[in-house]
Amino acid sequence: MDKLLIRGGVPLAGEVRVSGAKNAALPLLCAALLTDQPLRLANVPHLRDVTTMLGLLAQMGVEVNVDEQMCVELNGAHLRNPVAPYELVKTMRASILVLGPLVARHGQARVSLPGGCAIGQRPVDQHLKGLAALGADIQVEQGYITARARRLQGARIVADLVTVTGTENLMMAACLAEGTTVIENAAREPEVVNLAACLNAMGARIAGAGTDVITVEGVRELGGASHRIMPDRVETGTFLVAAAATGGTVALRDADPATLDAVIGKLREAGAEVGVDGATIRLAMRGRPQSVDVRTAPYPAFPTDMQAQLMALDAIATGAGVITETIFENRFMHAQELARLGADIDISGNTAIVRGVPRLQGASVMATDLRASASLVIAGLVAEGETLIDRIYHLDRGYEAIEEKLARLGARIRRVH
Ligand code: UD1
Repeated sequence: MDKLLIRGGVPLAGEVRVSGAKNAALPLLCAALLTDQPLRLANVPHLRDVTTMLGLLAQMGVEVNVDEQMCVELNGAHLRNPVAPYELVKTMRASILVLGPLVARHGQARVSLPGGCAIGQRPVDQHLKGLAALGADIQVEQGYITARARRLQGARIVADLVTVTGTENLMMAACLAEGTTVIENAAREPEVVNLAACLNAMGARIAGAGTDVITVEGVRELGGASHRIMPDRVETGTFLVAAAATGGTVALRDADPATLDAVIGKLREAGAEVGVDGATIRLAMRGRPQSVDVRTAPYPAFPTDMQAQLMALDAIATGAGVITETIFENRFMHAQELARLGADIDISGNTAIVRGVPRLQGASVMATDLRASASLVIAGLVAEGETLIDRIYHLDRGYEAIEEKLARLGARIRRVH
């Protein structure tokens, strides 16, 4: 199994390009199931989760063509097997995103229940409740969700909590329903907006994406489209935090600064100078950061997907920071690994108190999930000596060529087999 070896202590310096967003790419790939026309997606990130999703769609009968620039063309005209098996769903929960499109256009779907995952329970009850409201007949048996419908009917859906993929699933399904669907308490994440833009280009009639009330007027069918995937705001944030933690100076090209207000705000509070120039974000940090308090919440608040990285920053800051995780119940597993590098972190329930220490020391650590891995990389870049990070397949799920990009910024990092 691959590991990452980092010799820390080098301030990051230079320029890198931000990749397309994983969390936008995954629902957008599933949108191909809504039409028998070709859907062309540009700026698709080269990631394991994307490969998994392409594999899932291909085994359903979607034709997939990928060119060398990672432009992906999908054609769902000849779908034969509307099934998402456990073997794939358990490796990537976002596979649930095939459910809405399948039942909306093909009248049936069989999708494995995702089950638990490292960062918490993560049920899909809101997806199912919404689809049932749209008239789908949903059965859960032997670990599989079976959904059937002749044609979905528009409905008013009030989500019990804000769910990103839940909103996306229902928005996609509602596109082909008869009549109007209103999704209340919808997720406002930029990835939802990016998906809605693509669906509208395919002929859907969606209004309100980016607010908490999304209205979808159903249409008979959707056509093809060409769409560019938005920049990855979590990758952008991760590189910004890495630069701040190492006392570096970086420029990130092809970013979408407007999607990063909460993260940039916290970095400024920590003492970083952050400037925005069109699609480029520059960050410069002198000296140790000051600790910051963070509370995760749905967009536009501070994202849970940046919580672990910010903990690494607080770990070497002056003062103490309080980090509160409100989205997932078990998302502090990186704290124990950061402690192996010398961090001083106390956890109580969903709150972590991070007392900054002047320096971290390299050690062997274990990645437990995608964003936890990113926090260990950041800590390793700061730590004195060598840090060896095991189980980096988590990182490969969501960060395109992370060690190449960091090496380009001067980090001493390499993959060992
Ligand atoms: C998406 C992101 C993930 C991010 C998360 C929160 C993708 C592919 N993944 O995941 O990176 O960390 O949003 O910003 O976009 N919940 C329920 N019932 C449901 C659905 C969700 O109780 O039916 C709960 C979850 O357990 C969690 C909270 O709602 O506590 C938010 O989860 P949700 O927004 O659905 O996360 P994902 O869409 O899976």
